[in-house]
Amino acid sequence: MEAIDIEKGCGLGIHELLKDAIALEESADPQDADPGVEGEDSDNDEVPAPSIPVDPKIGSLNLPGDTPPNAVPQSRANRQRKRKREAEILKYGYRPSPIGLKRHVRMAASVKTDLDVKDLPATSCGYAATGHTPPKPALPAAIQALVDQGYEVVKNDGKTCKVFVGPDNRIFAVAAGQPCDPTYKEDHDDVCRAFLDVGARLRYRDSELNHKRGDFPAVNIGVTHSRGTKHPVFLKSDHQEAIDELLEMKGLQRMAKFANGAFSLSPASMHIRNPLIAAFATWAPNLYSYYKRYTDDLFEKMPKLRRIFGGKSVFPCVAFNFGPRVCTVSHRDQLNLSFGWCSIQALGWFDPERGGHLVLDDIKKIIEFPAGSLILIPSATLIHRNLPVQDHEVRMSFTQFCSGGIFRFVDNGFRTQNELKEQDPQACREIMEKKKSRWNLGLSLWSKLSDVVQVVPELAAM
Ligand SMILES: [Fe+2]
Repeated sequence: MEAIDIEKGCGLGIHELLKDAIALEESADPQDADPGVEGEDSDNDEVPAPSIPVDPKIGSLNLPGDTPPNAVPQSRANRQRKRKREAEILKYGYRPSPIGLKRHVRMAASVKTDLDVKDLPATSCGYAATGHTPPKPALPAAIQALVDQGYEVVKNDGKTCKVFVGPDNRIFAVAAGQPCDPTYKEDHDDVCRAFLDVGARLRYRDSELNHKRGDFPAVNIGVTHSRGTKHPVFLKSDHQEAIDELLEMKGLQRMAKFANGAFSLSPASMHIRNPLIAAFATWAPNLYSYYKRYTDDLFEKMPKLRRIFGGKSVFPCVAFNFGPRVCTVSHRDQLNLSFGWCSIQALGWFDPERGGHLVLDDIKKIIEFPAGSLILIPSATLIHRNLPVQDHEVRMSFTQFCSGGIFRFVDNGFRTQNELKEQDPQACREIMEKKKSRWNLGLSLWSKLSDVVQVVPELAAM
């Protein structure tokens, strides 16, 4: 595989890029319009509100064209465009349309922290993270008790986005909101009802009830490769039929797609179509491309492995965290890729100002986490947990992730470390040498805030 050119730019100023992008959009052939704009099937869900990191004191940016899509009947041309778009997603990954980008550019805020991401606890090989022992006594689970200990509540309306950055200005987490389309809320409610229904009728194994993440039933499904596996495998489940019911839901697929789009917001993956958008706004385009390349290679090499959501998700594994009141305890998902991000979507009906917050203890932030919204974090290396919701409320979650072992397996030429050592000692030595730099390489895939913060004054002037 080719190395990814992390800091690649296209040599044009932001202002020029924006003007060209909008001119291109306004002159675009209607046949190339984003189908979602025409209300076909909300295919523009993969365009979450881009992160324009401004000081919260500056306020919002309201740009023209910020109107929700109007539904119209689906035409043959729409269907053709949808098929074309889906083929492009499979080939290139998610990419926002200029119209979607323009529509979604609105208030966003950066949350500056003193987290030096280089110090996060990656393993020496760089593929996973070291173990985490929950503190004793347990950390407070009440907002005020945390505030008294110096934690800060981060307001989050679940629609606009907030980006979290460290002193090096790299974005390490994003509260990415959700699509502004009201039908998304309807889909969310459908998914919640299905979660409650399926969750109540499953007979869980002990390992699904008693796990390090908390005291709630959780079912993982998808392809993984970690402790105890010699190669990537599809996790067997006693509940395959019931889980497939959920996976086939339009609403759940829509949520998965949105998470991918938010993960991608992907100039790097869209440059083939329109290089002018490539400097506009991004959260983790290079990391997304990295995931896509590795997972595409894996499933091409091992076509018998089942790929949930087909090629439309770069996350090969998901977790269904059934309620009715999911509340994770302090943990890290240490077997996920150390510098990877996982997608967490909250589900249910609860007051997000009173419970369900995502707590990031490393940075002492208590992030409001409304139902239906998405948060992306490096779950292997950042300690995270939830605050409980009220007794009469419902909270569940849906997460997507990828184990670090999959990346190692692909790097090893689709072999285990031992097989590589036996079959190709020279390649093994080279891989071992690279492990010293893997963590830093991974961190460099995260986007820099400075790449997008320059956009703000330019946008304001337009
Ligand atoms: Fe987690």
